[in-house]
Amino acid sequence: MRRRKAAATSSTPTMSRRGPACLRPSMFVRMFSATTHRPAINKICSSTSEAIAGVKSGDTLLVGGFGFSGVPSTLINSIRDRKDLGEFTVVSNNAGMPGVGLGQLLQTGQIRRMIASYVGENKLFESQYLTGKLQLELIPQGTMAEKCAAGAAGVPAFYTPAAVGTVVQAGELPVQYNPDGTVAVMSKPRETRDFNGKTYVMEESIFGDVALVKVNKVDRLGNCTFRKAQNNFNEAMAKNAKITIVEADEIVQVGEIAPENVHLPGIYVDRVILSTEPKQIEKLTLAKSAEEIVNSGTYAGSQSRKRERIIKRAAQELKDGMYVNLGIGIPLATPALLPPGVEVILQSENGILGMGRYPEKGQEDPDLINPGKETITLQEGASIFGSHESFGMIRAGKINVTMLGALQVSMDGDLANFMLPGKVKGIGGAMDLVANPEKTKVIVTMEHVDRKGNPKILKKCTFPLTGQRCVSKIITDIAVFDCTPAGLVLRELVPDVSVEQLESMTEAPFAIADDFRPYQV
Ligand SMILES: *[C@@H]1O[C@H](CO)[C@@H](O)[C@H](O)[C@H]1NC(C)=O
Ligand SMILES: *[C@@H]1O[C@H](CO)[C@@H](O)[C@H](O)[C@H]1NC(C)=O
Repeated sequence: MRRRKAAATSSTPTMSRRGPACLRPSMFVRMFSATTHRPAINKICSSTSEAIAGVKSGDTLLVGGFGFSGVPSTLINSIRDRKDLGEFTVVSNNAGMPGVGLGQLLQTGQIRRMIASYVGENKLFESQYLTGKLQLELIPQGTMAEKCAAGAAGVPAFYTPAAVGTVVQAGELPVQYNPDGTVAVMSKPRETRDFNGKTYVMEESIFGDVALVKVNKVDRLGNCTFRKAQNNFNEAMAKNAKITIVEADEIVQVGEIAPENVHLPGIYVDRVILSTEPKQIEKLTLAKSAEEIVNSGTYAGSQSRKRERIIKRAAQELKDGMYVNLGIGIPLATPALLPPGVEVILQSENGILGMGRYPEKGQEDPDLINPGKETITLQEGASIFGSHESFGMIRAGKINVTMLGALQVSMDGDLANFMLPGKVKGIGGAMDLVANPEKTKVIVTMEHVDRKGNPKILKKCTFPLTGQRCVSKIITDIAVFDCTPAGLVLRELVPDVSVEQLESMTEAPFAIADDFRPYQV
Protein backbone atom coordinates (compact mmCIF):
# COMPACT_ATOMS: atom_id res chain seq x y z
CA MET A 1 0.00 0.00 0.00
CA ARG A 2 2.69 2.48 1.03
CA ARG A 3 4.92 1.58 -1.85
CA ARG A 4 2.13 2.13 -4.36
CA LYS A 5 1.46 5.55 -3.02
CA ALA A 6 5.11 6.55 -3.24
CA ALA A 7 5.30 5.26 -6.79
CA ALA A 8 2.25 7.29 -7.74
CA THR A 9 3.77 10.53 -6.56
CA SER A 10 7.20 10.08 -8.03
CA SER A 11 6.23 9.36 -11.61
CA THR A 12 3.38 9.90 -13.99
CA PRO A 13 2.86 8.29 -17.36
CA THR A 14 4.45 10.04 -20.35
CA MET A 15 6.65 12.28 -18.20
CA SER A 16 10.30 12.22 -17.31
CA ARG A 17 11.33 9.90 -14.52
CA ARG A 18 10.97 12.65 -11.97
CA GLY A 19 7.44 13.44 -13.19
CA PRO A 20 6.16 16.93 -13.94
CA ALA A 21 7.27 19.58 -11.53
CA CYS A 22 3.66 20.03 -10.50
CA LEU A 23 3.75 16.61 -8.90
CA ARG A 24 7.01 17.14 -7.05
CA PRO A 25 6.47 17.33 -3.32
CA SER A 26 8.31 20.55 -2.47
CA MET A 27 5.82 22.86 -4.14
CA PHE A 28 2.60 21.60 -2.74
CA VAL A 29 3.97 21.55 0.74
CA ARG A 30 4.51 25.27 0.41
CA MET A 31 1.17 25.91 -1.20
CA PHE A 32 -1.27 23.80 0.68
CA SER A 33 0.07 22.29 3.82
CA ALA A 34 0.21 24.06 7.12
CA THR A 35 1.54 20.92 8.76
CA THR A 36 4.53 18.81 7.88
CA HIS A 37 2.18 16.19 6.47
CA ARG A 38 2.80 16.06 2.73
CA PRO A 39 -0.32 15.59 0.59
CA ALA A 40 0.11 12.71 -1.81
CA ILE A 41 -1.70 14.32 -4.71
CA ASN A 42 -1.19 17.80 -6.04
CA LYS A 43 -2.05 18.42 -9.66
CA ILE A 44 -1.47 22.17 -9.67
CA CYS A 45 1.27 23.21 -12.07
CA SER A 46 3.25 26.39 -11.64
CA SER A 47 3.30 27.33 -15.33
CA THR A 48 1.40 26.61 -18.52
CA SER A 49 4.51 25.19 -20.18
CA GLU A 50 4.74 22.69 -17.35
CA ALA A 51 1.04 21.90 -17.75
CA ILE A 52 1.37 21.05 -21.44
CA ALA A 53 4.63 19.09 -21.08
CA GLY A 54 4.30 15.75 -22.83
CA VAL A 55 1.93 17.01 -25.54
CA LYS A 56 3.34 15.61 -28.79
CA SER A 57 3.00 16.53 -32.44
CA GLY A 58 0.32 14.42 -34.10
CA ASP A 59 -1.68 14.02 -30.88
CA THR A 60 -5.46 14.03 -30.88
CA LEU A 61 -6.45 17.05 -28.80
CA LEU A 62 -9.97 17.28 -27.36
CA VAL A 63 -10.70 20.96 -26.81
CA GLY A 64 -13.78 21.99 -24.83
CA GLY A 65 -15.93 25.03 -25.48
CA PHE A 66 -18.93 26.12 -27.49
CA GLY A 67 -18.65 29.44 -29.30
CA PHE A 68 -16.50 31.52 -26.93
CA SER A 69 -18.04 29.92 -23.83
CA GLY A 70 -16.02 27.49 -21.74
CA VAL A 71 -12.99 27.71 -24.02
CA PRO A 72 -9.60 26.78 -22.46
CA SER A 73 -7.96 29.88 -23.95
CA THR A 74 -4.90 29.91 -21.69
CA LEU A 75 -3.99 26.34 -22.66
CA ILE A 76 -4.72 26.94 -26.36
CA ASN A 77 -2.41 29.95 -26.29
CA SER A 78 0.35 27.93 -24.67
CA ILE A 79 0.08 25.35 -27.48
CA ARG A 80 0.13 28.22 -30.00
CA ASP A 81 3.41 29.40 -28.48
CA ARG A 82 5.01 25.97 -28.90
CA LYS A 83 5.87 26.37 -32.58
CA ASP A 84 7.69 23.00 -32.51
CA LEU A 85 4.32 21.25 -31.97
CA GLY A 86 1.83 20.62 -34.76
CA GLU A 87 0.10 18.08 -37.01
CA PHE A 88 -2.67 17.87 -34.43
CA THR A 89 -6.07 16.29 -34.89
CA VAL A 90 -8.35 18.64 -32.96
CA VAL A 91 -11.80 17.62 -31.78
CA SER A 92 -13.87 20.70 -30.97
CA ASN A 93 -17.40 21.80 -31.80
CA ASN A 94 -16.10 24.80 -33.74
CA ALA A 95 -12.69 26.39 -34.16
CA GLY A 96 -12.95 29.81 -32.52
CA MET A 97 -12.60 32.75 -34.86
CA PRO A 98 -9.54 34.09 -36.67
CA GLY A 99 -7.22 35.34 -33.90
CA VAL A 100 -9.37 33.86 -31.12
CA GLY A 101 -9.11 30.45 -29.44
CA LEU A 102 -8.48 27.59 -31.86
CA GLY A 103 -8.60 30.05 -34.75
CA GLN A 104 -5.03 30.86 -33.77
CA LEU A 105 -3.86 27.27 -34.20
CA LEU A 106 -5.35 27.32 -37.69
CA GLN A 107 -3.38 30.50 -38.41
CA THR A 108 -0.15 28.95 -37.18
CA GLY A 109 -0.85 25.84 -39.26
CA GLN A 110 -0.57 23.53 -36.23
CA ILE A 111 -3.82 21.67 -36.99
CA ARG A 112 -3.82 18.97 -39.64
CA ARG A 113 -7.34 17.66 -39.10
CA MET A 114 -10.43 19.12 -37.43
CA ILE A 115 -13.29 16.97 -36.15
CA ALA A 116 -16.12 19.46 -35.65
CA SER A 117 -19.82 20.04 -36.16
CA TYR A 118 -19.63 23.64 -37.27
CA VAL A 119 -17.44 25.86 -39.43
CA GLY A 120 -19.86 28.78 -39.36
CA GLU A 121 -18.57 32.27 -39.87
CA ASN A 122 -14.89 31.32 -39.47
CA LYS A 123 -13.61 32.22 -42.96
CA LEU A 124 -10.09 31.03 -42.24
CA PHE A 125 -11.38 27.58 -41.27
CA GLU A 126 -13.48 27.44 -44.45
CA SER A 127 -10.73 28.58 -46.81
CA GLN A 128 -8.07 26.24 -45.35
CA TYR A 129 -10.49 23.35 -45.78
CA LEU A 130 -11.57 24.26 -49.32
CA THR A 131 -7.96 24.69 -50.46
CA GLY A 132 -6.82 21.35 -49.05
CA LYS A 133 -4.61 22.73 -46.25
CA LEU A 134 -6.86 21.30 -43.56
CA GLN A 135 -8.74 18.02 -43.25
CA LEU A 136 -12.24 18.25 -41.83
CA GLU A 137 -14.48 15.54 -40.45
CA LEU A 138 -17.85 17.23 -40.18
CA ILE A 139 -20.19 15.36 -37.80
CA PRO A 140 -23.47 16.11 -36.05
CA GLN A 141 -22.99 17.96 -32.77
CA GLY A 142 -24.70 15.29 -30.67
CA THR A 143 -22.67 12.56 -32.36
CA MET A 144 -19.51 14.45 -31.48
CA ALA A 145 -20.56 14.80 -27.85
CA GLU A 146 -21.44 11.09 -27.66
CA LYS A 147 -18.21 10.02 -29.39
CA CYS A 148 -16.40 11.66 -26.47
CA ALA A 149 -18.80 10.48 -23.75
CA ALA A 150 -18.82 6.88 -25.03
CA GLY A 151 -15.04 6.87 -25.35
CA ALA A 152 -14.86 8.09 -21.77
CA ALA A 153 -17.04 5.18 -20.68
CA GLY A 154 -14.80 2.65 -22.40
CA VAL A 155 -17.35 1.99 -25.16
CA PRO A 156 -15.69 1.87 -28.59
CA ALA A 157 -18.79 2.42 -30.75
CA PHE A 158 -22.51 3.06 -30.47
CA TYR A 159 -25.66 3.32 -32.58
CA THR A 160 -27.39 6.69 -32.96
CA PRO A 161 -30.60 7.65 -34.75
CA ALA A 162 -28.98 10.91 -35.92
CA ALA A 163 -27.90 11.20 -39.57
CA VAL A 164 -29.71 8.12 -40.93
CA GLY A 165 -30.13 8.59 -44.69
CA THR A 166 -27.81 11.62 -44.85
CA VAL A 167 -24.41 12.28 -46.42
CA VAL A 168 -22.89 11.62 -42.97
CA GLN A 169 -24.17 8.06 -43.06
CA ALA A 170 -23.44 7.56 -46.78
CA GLY A 171 -19.86 8.83 -46.41
CA GLU A 172 -20.34 11.64 -48.92
CA LEU A 173 -18.69 14.54 -47.15
CA PRO A 174 -15.27 15.60 -48.44
CA VAL A 175 -12.63 15.26 -45.71
CA GLN A 176 -9.82 16.67 -47.81
CA TYR A 177 -9.70 18.66 -51.03
CA ASN A 178 -6.89 18.80 -53.55
CA PRO A 179 -5.46 22.27 -54.21
CA ASP A 180 -7.39 22.27 -57.53
CA GLY A 181 -10.69 21.90 -55.67
CA THR A 182 -11.31 18.24 -56.47
CA VAL A 183 -11.96 15.87 -53.57
CA ALA A 184 -8.92 13.93 -52.36
CA VAL A 185 -10.49 12.03 -49.46
CA MET A 186 -14.16 11.31 -48.72
CA SER A 187 -15.63 10.52 -45.32
CA LYS A 188 -16.21 6.90 -44.29
CA PRO A 189 -19.66 5.38 -44.92
CA ARG A 190 -21.29 4.23 -41.68
CA GLU A 191 -22.77 0.84 -40.97
CA THR A 192 -26.45 0.84 -40.12
CA ARG A 193 -28.57 -1.58 -38.13
CA ASP A 194 -32.23 -1.83 -37.21
CA PHE A 195 -33.40 -2.03 -33.61
CA ASN A 196 -37.12 -2.25 -32.80
CA GLY A 197 -38.05 -1.35 -36.35
CA LYS A 198 -35.93 1.78 -36.57
CA THR A 199 -32.62 2.31 -38.36
CA TYR A 200 -29.53 3.55 -36.53
CA VAL A 201 -26.04 4.60 -37.62
CA MET A 202 -22.95 3.09 -36.03
CA GLU A 203 -20.45 5.69 -34.87
CA GLU A 204 -17.03 4.88 -33.48
CA SER A 205 -15.97 6.65 -30.31
CA ILE A 206 -13.12 9.11 -30.16
CA PHE A 207 -10.24 8.51 -27.77
CA GLY A 208 -8.20 11.58 -26.95
CA ASP A 209 -4.51 11.81 -26.26
CA VAL A 210 -4.86 15.15 -24.53
CA ALA A 211 -7.92 17.06 -23.32
CA LEU A 212 -7.77 20.83 -22.84
CA VAL A 213 -10.57 21.73 -20.51
CA LYS A 214 -12.03 24.87 -18.94
CA VAL A 215 -13.67 24.76 -15.52
CA ASN A 216 -14.75 27.25 -12.89
CA LYS A 217 -13.30 25.87 -9.64
CA VAL A 218 -10.74 23.16 -9.08
CA ASP A 219 -8.87 21.85 -6.05
CA ARG A 220 -5.41 20.27 -5.90
CA LEU A 221 -7.00 16.83 -6.25
CA GLY A 222 -8.51 17.90 -9.55
CA ASN A 223 -12.16 17.95 -8.50
CA CYS A 224 -13.92 20.53 -10.65
CA THR A 225 -17.12 22.54 -10.95
CA PHE A 226 -18.51 24.31 -13.99
CA ARG A 227 -20.17 27.69 -13.91
CA LYS A 228 -23.35 28.46 -15.92
CA ALA A 229 -23.17 26.93 -19.43
CA GLN A 230 -19.40 26.58 -19.29
CA ASN A 231 -19.59 22.77 -19.26
CA ASN A 232 -20.73 22.08 -22.85
CA PHE A 233 -18.13 19.60 -24.21
CA ASN A 234 -15.65 20.06 -21.35
CA GLU A 235 -16.93 17.31 -19.08
CA ALA A 236 -17.15 14.55 -21.70
CA MET A 237 -13.76 15.49 -23.13
CA ALA A 238 -12.07 15.73 -19.74
CA LYS A 239 -13.06 12.14 -19.00
CA ASN A 240 -11.74 10.82 -22.29
CA ALA A 241 -8.01 11.56 -22.62
CA LYS A 242 -4.69 10.06 -21.57
CA ILE A 243 -3.67 13.47 -20.23
CA THR A 244 -6.41 15.84 -19.07
CA ILE A 245 -5.26 19.39 -18.46
CA VAL A 246 -7.65 21.72 -16.73
CA GLU A 247 -7.57 25.50 -16.55
CA ALA A 248 -9.76 27.08 -13.92
CA ASP A 249 -11.24 30.46 -13.10
CA GLU A 250 -10.29 29.73 -9.50
CA ILE A 251 -8.18 27.24 -7.55
CA VAL A 252 -9.73 26.40 -4.19
CA GLN A 253 -8.76 24.43 -1.11
CA VAL A 254 -9.73 20.79 -0.85
CA GLY A 255 -13.05 20.60 0.94
CA GLU A 256 -14.34 23.86 -0.48
CA ILE A 257 -16.26 21.98 -3.14
CA ALA A 258 -18.79 19.75 -1.40
CA PRO A 259 -18.61 16.15 -2.64
CA GLU A 260 -22.13 16.31 -4.11
CA ASN A 261 -21.22 19.47 -6.04
CA VAL A 262 -18.23 17.99 -7.86
CA HIS A 263 -19.16 18.05 -11.59
CA LEU A 264 -15.91 16.47 -12.75
CA PRO A 265 -14.24 14.16 -10.20
CA GLY A 266 -10.52 14.55 -9.74
CA ILE A 267 -9.74 11.04 -10.95
CA TYR A 268 -10.11 12.30 -14.54
CA VAL A 269 -7.82 15.29 -14.12
CA ASP A 270 -4.02 15.14 -14.45
CA ARG A 271 -2.88 18.74 -14.33
CA VAL A 272 -4.30 22.06 -13.28
CA ILE A 273 -3.48 25.69 -13.96
CA LEU A 274 -5.17 29.00 -13.30
CA SER A 275 -6.70 30.73 -16.36
CA THR A 276 -4.98 33.97 -17.27
CA GLU A 277 -6.87 34.80 -20.48
CA PRO A 278 -10.03 36.92 -20.10
CA LYS A 279 -13.39 35.50 -21.18
CA GLN A 280 -14.82 36.91 -24.37
CA ILE A 281 -18.33 37.43 -25.72
CA GLU A 282 -18.91 36.66 -29.39
CA LYS A 283 -22.39 38.16 -29.86
CA LEU A 284 -23.45 40.58 -27.15
CA THR A 285 -27.25 40.63 -27.35
CA LEU A 286 -29.22 42.70 -24.86
CA ALA A 287 -32.86 42.65 -23.73
CA LYS A 288 -35.35 43.66 -26.40
CA SER A 289 -39.08 44.26 -26.40
CA ALA A 290 -41.29 41.62 -28.05
CA GLU A 291 -41.80 44.10 -30.88
CA GLU A 292 -38.05 44.52 -31.44
CA ILE A 293 -37.55 40.75 -31.47
CA VAL A 294 -40.33 40.17 -33.99
CA ASN A 295 -39.40 43.12 -36.23
CA SER A 296 -35.71 42.30 -36.33
CA GLY A 297 -33.93 45.29 -37.83
CA THR A 298 -32.00 43.24 -40.37
CA TYR A 299 -35.11 42.65 -42.49
CA ALA A 300 -36.79 45.37 -44.50
CA GLY A 301 -40.25 45.89 -45.99
CA SER A 302 -42.12 42.84 -47.27
CA GLN A 303 -39.35 40.55 -45.96
CA SER A 304 -39.98 41.84 -42.47
CA ARG A 305 -43.77 41.42 -42.79
CA LYS A 306 -43.34 37.81 -43.94
CA ARG A 307 -41.05 37.11 -41.02
CA GLU A 308 -43.47 38.66 -38.56
CA ARG A 309 -46.35 36.59 -39.90
CA ILE A 310 -44.41 33.31 -39.59
CA ILE A 311 -43.34 34.16 -36.04
CA LYS A 312 -46.92 34.99 -35.01
CA ARG A 313 -48.26 31.77 -36.49
CA ALA A 314 -45.44 29.59 -35.16
CA ALA A 315 -45.82 30.97 -31.62
CA GLN A 316 -49.28 29.38 -31.49
CA GLU A 317 -47.64 25.94 -31.65
CA LEU A 318 -46.02 26.45 -28.25
CA LYS A 319 -48.40 25.11 -25.63
CA ASP A 320 -48.42 25.36 -21.88
CA GLY A 321 -46.07 22.86 -20.25
CA MET A 322 -43.99 22.04 -23.31
CA TYR A 323 -40.26 21.50 -23.44
CA VAL A 324 -39.06 23.02 -26.71
CA ASN A 325 -35.86 23.50 -28.64
CA LEU A 326 -35.88 26.45 -31.01
CA GLY A 327 -33.54 27.07 -33.91
CA ILE A 328 -31.76 30.35 -34.48
CA GLY A 329 -33.80 33.07 -36.23
CA ILE A 330 -37.59 32.86 -36.53
CA PRO A 331 -38.08 29.95 -34.07
CA LEU A 332 -36.07 31.68 -31.35
CA ALA A 333 -38.24 34.79 -31.75
CA THR A 334 -41.52 32.94 -31.05
CA PRO A 335 -41.42 32.90 -27.21
CA ALA A 336 -41.61 36.72 -27.29
CA LEU A 337 -45.24 36.32 -28.43
CA LEU A 338 -46.40 33.77 -25.86
CA PRO A 339 -49.60 34.83 -24.11
CA PRO A 340 -49.14 35.61 -20.42
CA GLY A 341 -49.51 32.56 -18.21
CA VAL A 342 -48.24 30.08 -20.81
CA GLU A 343 -45.18 28.35 -19.40
CA VAL A 344 -42.79 26.85 -21.93
CA ILE A 345 -39.35 25.55 -20.98
CA LEU A 346 -36.67 26.28 -23.56
CA GLN A 347 -33.91 23.75 -24.06
CA SER A 348 -30.61 24.88 -25.50
CA GLU A 349 -28.37 22.18 -26.95
CA ASN A 350 -25.24 23.59 -25.35
CA GLY A 351 -26.62 22.29 -22.07
CA ILE A 352 -29.41 24.48 -20.70
CA LEU A 353 -32.94 23.67 -19.66
CA GLY A 354 -34.83 26.85 -18.76
CA MET A 355 -33.14 29.34 -21.04
CA GLY A 356 -34.37 32.89 -20.35
CA ARG A 357 -34.49 36.15 -22.28
CA TYR A 358 -31.61 38.34 -23.40
CA PRO A 359 -29.81 40.07 -20.49
CA GLU A 360 -30.20 43.70 -19.46
CA LYS A 361 -27.12 45.82 -20.07
CA GLY A 362 -24.49 44.89 -17.48
CA GLN A 363 -26.08 41.47 -16.80
CA GLU A 364 -24.41 39.78 -19.78
CA ASP A 365 -22.28 36.76 -18.91
CA PRO A 366 -19.69 35.13 -21.21
CA ASP A 367 -20.57 31.74 -19.69
CA LEU A 368 -24.24 32.03 -20.71
CA ILE A 369 -24.99 31.86 -24.42
CA ASN A 370 -27.62 30.27 -26.68
CA PRO A 371 -26.86 28.03 -29.69
CA GLY A 372 -26.61 31.20 -31.80
CA LYS A 373 -23.75 32.33 -29.47
CA GLU A 374 -25.91 35.24 -28.23
CA THR A 375 -25.82 36.24 -24.57
CA ILE A 376 -28.86 35.01 -22.62
CA THR A 377 -30.13 34.61 -19.06
CA LEU A 378 -31.54 31.69 -17.10
CA GLN A 379 -35.14 31.35 -16.00
CA GLU A 380 -35.87 30.61 -12.38
CA GLY A 381 -35.65 26.84 -11.99
CA ALA A 382 -33.20 26.36 -14.86
CA SER A 383 -30.69 23.54 -14.89
CA ILE A 384 -27.35 23.13 -16.65
CA PHE A 385 -25.48 20.10 -17.92
CA GLY A 386 -22.99 18.98 -20.56
CA SER A 387 -23.65 18.76 -24.30
CA HIS A 388 -23.53 14.93 -24.18
CA GLU A 389 -26.45 14.93 -21.74
CA SER A 390 -28.25 17.65 -23.66
CA PHE A 391 -28.18 15.59 -26.84
CA GLY A 392 -29.07 12.49 -24.86
CA MET A 393 -32.37 14.08 -23.80
CA ILE A 394 -32.88 15.32 -27.36
CA ARG A 395 -32.36 11.93 -29.06
CA ALA A 396 -34.36 10.16 -26.35
CA GLY A 397 -37.37 12.29 -27.30
CA LYS A 398 -37.78 14.23 -24.05
CA ILE A 399 -38.28 17.47 -25.99
CA ASN A 400 -41.92 17.94 -27.06
CA VAL A 401 -41.31 20.24 -30.02
CA THR A 402 -38.34 21.36 -32.05
CA MET A 403 -38.81 24.23 -34.46
CA LEU A 404 -36.26 24.99 -37.13
CA GLY A 405 -35.74 26.71 -40.45
CA ALA A 406 -35.32 24.85 -43.75
CA LEU A 407 -33.89 25.20 -47.22
CA GLN A 408 -36.21 22.49 -48.57
CA VAL A 409 -38.88 20.08 -47.30
CA SER A 410 -40.21 17.14 -49.31
CA MET A 411 -43.74 15.76 -49.51
CA ASP A 412 -42.53 12.81 -47.39
CA GLY A 413 -41.37 15.15 -44.64
CA ASP A 414 -37.67 14.94 -45.50
CA LEU A 415 -35.79 18.01 -44.28
CA ALA A 416 -32.79 19.76 -45.87
CA ASN A 417 -31.52 22.65 -43.78
CA PHE A 418 -27.77 22.41 -43.28
CA MET A 419 -25.92 22.69 -46.55
CA LEU A 420 -26.12 24.47 -49.85
CA PRO A 421 -24.02 22.74 -52.49
CA GLY A 422 -20.50 24.20 -52.44
CA LYS A 423 -20.97 26.08 -49.14
CA VAL A 424 -19.48 24.85 -45.88
CA LYS A 425 -21.33 26.02 -42.83
CA GLY A 426 -21.61 22.91 -40.72
CA ILE A 427 -24.18 20.51 -39.39
CA GLY A 428 -24.62 21.73 -35.82
CA GLY A 429 -27.28 20.03 -33.73
CA ALA A 430 -30.09 19.74 -36.29
CA MET A 431 -29.55 16.08 -37.25
CA ASP A 432 -29.94 15.05 -33.60
CA LEU A 433 -32.95 17.32 -33.08
CA VAL A 434 -34.92 15.63 -35.87
CA ALA A 435 -33.75 12.08 -35.05
CA ASN A 436 -36.75 11.09 -32.94
CA PRO A 437 -39.80 12.51 -34.75
CA GLU A 438 -42.02 9.86 -33.17
CA LYS A 439 -41.60 11.66 -29.86
CA THR A 440 -40.33 15.13 -30.73
CA LYS A 441 -42.58 16.98 -33.14
CA VAL A 442 -40.54 18.72 -35.85
CA ILE A 443 -42.03 22.02 -37.04
CA VAL A 444 -40.41 23.84 -39.95
CA THR A 445 -40.70 27.61 -40.29
CA MET A 446 -39.57 29.12 -43.60
CA GLU A 447 -40.54 31.39 -46.45
CA HIS A 448 -42.68 29.59 -48.98
CA VAL A 449 -40.30 30.14 -51.91
CA ASP A 450 -36.60 30.94 -52.08
CA ARG A 451 -35.14 34.35 -53.03
CA LYS A 452 -35.40 33.52 -56.72
CA GLY A 453 -39.02 32.46 -56.35
CA ASN A 454 -38.30 28.72 -56.57
CA PRO A 455 -40.50 26.38 -54.52
CA LYS A 456 -38.96 25.01 -51.32
CA ILE A 457 -41.67 22.41 -50.73
CA LEU A 458 -40.68 19.74 -53.23
CA LYS A 459 -41.49 16.20 -54.29
CA LYS A 460 -37.93 15.31 -53.35
CA CYS A 461 -35.24 17.45 -51.73
CA THR A 462 -32.28 18.24 -53.99
CA PHE A 463 -30.01 19.53 -51.19
CA PRO A 464 -28.32 17.17 -48.69
CA LEU A 465 -30.79 15.93 -46.08
CA THR A 466 -30.77 16.76 -42.39
CA GLY A 467 -33.27 14.00 -41.67
CA GLN A 468 -35.64 11.62 -43.43
CA ARG A 469 -39.42 11.65 -42.90
CA CYS A 470 -39.10 13.80 -39.83
CA VAL A 471 -41.13 16.98 -40.43
CA SER A 472 -44.69 17.01 -39.13
CA LYS A 473 -45.71 20.61 -39.81
CA ILE A 474 -44.60 23.36 -42.21
CA ILE A 475 -45.39 26.99 -41.46
CA THR A 476 -44.57 29.40 -44.28
CA ASP A 477 -45.46 33.06 -44.76
CA ILE A 478 -48.60 32.06 -46.70
CA ALA A 479 -49.62 28.56 -45.69
CA VAL A 480 -49.60 25.85 -43.03
CA PHE A 481 -49.23 22.18 -44.02
CA ASP A 482 -49.29 18.96 -42.05
CA CYS A 483 -46.93 16.24 -43.26
CA THR A 484 -48.82 12.95 -42.95
CA PRO A 485 -47.91 9.42 -44.03
CA ALA A 486 -50.34 9.98 -46.94
CA GLY A 487 -48.58 13.20 -48.02
CA LEU A 488 -49.02 16.93 -47.47
CA VAL A 489 -52.29 18.35 -46.19
CA LEU A 490 -53.02 22.07 -46.51
CA ARG A 491 -54.54 23.36 -43.29
CA GLU A 492 -54.35 27.14 -43.58
CA LEU A 493 -53.80 29.70 -46.33
CA VAL A 494 -53.61 33.51 -46.26
CA PRO A 495 -56.79 35.04 -47.75
CA ASP A 496 -55.05 36.95 -50.57
CA VAL A 497 -53.54 33.79 -52.12
CA SER A 498 -55.74 31.28 -53.99
CA VAL A 499 -55.22 27.52 -53.88
CA GLU A 500 -54.22 27.66 -57.58
CA GLN A 501 -51.59 30.30 -56.84
CA LEU A 502 -50.34 28.20 -53.94
CA GLU A 503 -50.04 25.17 -56.23
CA SER A 504 -47.85 27.16 -58.60
CA MET A 505 -45.52 28.01 -55.70
CA THR A 506 -45.45 24.46 -54.31
CA GLU A 507 -43.83 21.67 -56.32
CA ALA A 508 -45.17 18.88 -54.13
CA PRO A 509 -48.80 17.82 -54.46
CA PHE A 510 -51.05 18.37 -51.45
CA ALA A 511 -54.55 17.56 -50.24
CA ILE A 512 -56.82 20.09 -48.57
CA ALA A 513 -57.90 19.44 -45.00
CA ASP A 514 -61.60 18.99 -44.22
CA ASP A 515 -61.31 21.71 -41.60
CA PHE A 516 -59.24 23.98 -43.85
CA ARG A 517 -59.28 27.57 -42.58
CA PRO A 518 -57.70 30.99 -43.16
CA TYR A 519 -54.12 31.49 -41.94
CA GLN A 520 -54.36 32.20 -38.21
CA VAL A 521 -52.51 35.30 -37.03
C1 LIG B 1 -11.57 14.75 -5.09
O1 LIG B 1 -10.81 13.86 -5.89
C2 LIG B 1 -10.12 12.87 -5.19
C3 LIG B 1 -9.24 12.12 -6.18
O2 LIG B 1 -9.92 11.82 -7.38
C4 LIG B 1 -11.07 12.01 -4.41
O3 LIG B 1 -10.38 11.03 -3.67
C5 LIG B 1 -11.88 12.90 -3.47
O4 LIG B 1 -12.84 12.16 -2.80
C6 LIG B 1 -12.54 14.01 -4.23
N1 LIG B 1 -13.20 14.94 -3.37
C7 LIG B 1 -14.48 15.23 -3.46
C8 LIG B 1 -15.00 16.29 -2.55
O5 LIG B 1 -15.22 14.68 -4.22
C1 LIG C 1 -44.18 16.55 -23.39
O1 LIG C 1 -43.64 15.23 -23.49
C2 LIG C 1 -43.85 14.42 -22.37
C3 LIG C 1 -43.18 13.08 -22.60
O2 LIG C 1 -42.00 13.16 -23.24
C4 LIG C 1 -45.31 14.23 -22.12
O3 LIG C 1 -45.51 13.46 -20.96
C5 LIG C 1 -45.99 15.59 -21.98
O4 LIG C 1 -47.38 15.42 -21.88
C6 LIG C 1 -45.68 16.49 -23.16
N1 LIG C 1 -46.19 17.82 -22.89
C7 LIG C 1 -46.91 18.53 -23.76
C8 LIG C 1 -47.43 19.85 -23.27
O5 LIG C 1 -47.13 18.15 -24.89
